[in-house]
Amino acid sequence: MNRQQYIELVQEMIEHDRRYYDENRPTISDYEYDQKRLALEAYEKAHPEHILPASPAQRVAEGPTSGFVQKAHLVPMMSLANTYSEEEIADFIKRVHKLLEKKEIPFCAELKMDGTAISLLYEKGKLVHALTRGNGKIGDDVTANIRTIKSIPLTIDIKETVEIRGEIYMSLSVFKALNREREEEGLEPFANPRNAAAGSLKLLDPREVAKRKLNLVAYGVEGAGSLTSQYEVHHQLKKWGFPIGSKEHLAYCETFDEIVHFAKKIEKERPHLPFEIDGIVIKVDDIKAHAVLGATGKVPRFAIAYKFAPEQAHTRIHEITVQVGRSGVLTPVAELEPVLLAGSTISRATLHNQEEVARKDIRIGDLVVIEKGGDVIPKVVSVDLSKRPPHTHPWKMPQHCPICKSDVIHREGEVAVRCANPRCAGQRVKRLTYFASKHAMDIEHLGERVAEQLVEKGLVSRISEVYLLDEEKLAQLEGFKEKAIRNLLTSINASRQCPFSRFIMGLGIKSVGTETAELLAEEARDVNTLLHMKEEELLGINGIGEKTAKEIWEALHDPDLREEIRLLLAHGVTPQKLKPKLTGHPFSGKTFVLTGALQHYSRDEAAALIKERGGSVSGSVSKKTDYVLVGEDPGSKYVKAKELGVNILSESQFRQMLD
Ligand code: IVH
Repeated sequence: MNRQQYIELVQEMIEHDRRYYDENRPTISDYEYDQKRLALEAYEKAHPEHILPASPAQRVAEGPTSGFVQKAHLVPMMSLANTYSEEEIADFIKRVHKLLEKKEIPFCAELKMDGTAISLLYEKGKLVHALTRGNGKIGDDVTANIRTIKSIPLTIDIKETVEIRGEIYMSLSVFKALNREREEEGLEPFANPRNAAAGSLKLLDPREVAKRKLNLVAYGVEGAGSLTSQYEVHHQLKKWGFPIGSKEHLAYCETFDEIVHFAKKIEKERPHLPFEIDGIVIKVDDIKAHAVLGATGKVPRFAIAYKFAPEQAHTRIHEITVQVGRSGVLTPVAELEPVLLAGSTISRATLHNQEEVARKDIRIGDLVVIEKGGDVIPKVVSVDLSKRPPHTHPWKMPQHCPICKSDVIHREGEVAVRCANPRCAGQRVKRLTYFASKHAMDIEHLGERVAEQLVEKGLVSRISEVYLLDEEKLAQLEGFKEKAIRNLLTSINASRQCPFSRFIMGLGIKSVGTETAELLAEEARDVNTLLHMKEEELLGINGIGEKTAKEIWEALHDPDLREEIRLLLAHGVTPQKLKPKLTGHPFSGKTFVLTGALQHYSRDEAAALIKERGGSVSGSVSKKTDYVLVGEDPGSKYVKAKELGVNILSESQFRQMLD
């Protein structure tokens, strides 16, 4: 790799990180990512003088996200070094032998669950909070969401303060059902169960999280002095009532051969497991030895991950079709000879964009390798050129939209090719489906197939016309008899009184997903205020970054969108107004820290009351804290507040101040 290639790789990796962390929608497999990352690290090691500060290898990935209170872990959460070969496992064992100056060292091998890490803090046996990994030191407090997972015990039998470590994951069956639902509603499906789990944990409404049926597998305990072996840890976790992996998925290994045997057994089982794993984790069983071994950077020396190569299959492309998205973006799709891959029959694979097709020189008729790390829509990894049939041609993006036949455009600086015709039926169908989906206006019975007919028959050309549909018009739809007509009209009518955040979702503004819509609704509280918000005001919302603020502001000033909003309101859509924020309240502009158990409210409820009154809630006490609200059994924050002389509020004082 030369310097120029290094610079390009840094840019590429920044983009991959953005897709992964911000959009929860990676476009390359973990395996490919890791390979690129290794190349990046190798170059930086060899040429430290060329290191770009923005290089993803220079920073801790995945910072805490806003929208949640951030809190510190008692013991930092590290990540694992990845290995891909048996030689690397052997190297790891040798290193451990050398450092511990001993030849006989037992290991504990476990599944590497492909989900998102969690740390559960128990004080005096009671669950206090649940934090995501965040940057390893500070994570997001997702306790309310974690409480929706029934298998997590709220109390355990131990006096010491402990942090239980584990993985939150989504089983494959739940994942598939969720994505089916999302697609029917016109929402972007999640790329894989891991992103679905991580995305679900970050939802702001715990009731929505409950519907996602998340699971936990516990694999670690920090702070319990009596536990001396990793094998014992699993045993104890089980005794406390935590879900741990099955017996067969845990191995006590005394030799390299035993580890490899376990790895092979698991790799064979992998396609039949009801959840996703991406390898195994090998840990030194003796916990006292962990401290002796220490860590290098962000990874401990007592454990490694041995990752499996992604599952792949070979098949032929019999056609390349082009899909039109909501905003007109054209996406090439490979239509495949159906093939079995990771437990499901695959007949389509996304080709992302024309650059990707050109880079891999993918042609109709090619025999290709497809891969699916649990991704809903698998991808084409490579072409087997030796099996290419004669007389094929490089594939080209059509010059006309496959649906409306108008010219396509390629905006400068963009990879995407678009159909620029806002009246394109393909776009209209996608927009309408999105508008009616559960996360937007929630119009039951208006899925993609009905949307297609409504557009095709000219009954709905812009979304607000949904509210002009009547019996006579709906009778024109195929198979629409009295009952279907009544059902659809009832749900259309019901949607007129929608929550404000879902109305915002329905507008289909790029970069506004459920969470951003909620933040906007919370801040603006009614349509009129939203339409008059300045870009700085949007940027001032905690959780909305510069790029998003700009995009939202521009979208809200698009005359077409403004007209659409006017029509929606004129046709009787009345998004529910949120009560105006109380101004001039003594809490306004003040920072609160909560500690101890409150009698009348959960922490989230108390936080909501404070926020409604213009205050904010922070996770730790500092000189900047205005009030510490103290419940029963307060923790160290109470002590710190007294030390710093911060105002202390009892629950009854707090209640008096509320109104
Ligand atoms: S041990 C320092 N054990 O893998 C030890 N991690 O790549 C860190 N993971 O952040 C964790 N299954 O989210 C451990 N049996 C297992 C695991 C596991 C999945 C995840 C975890 C961690 C990531 C590191």
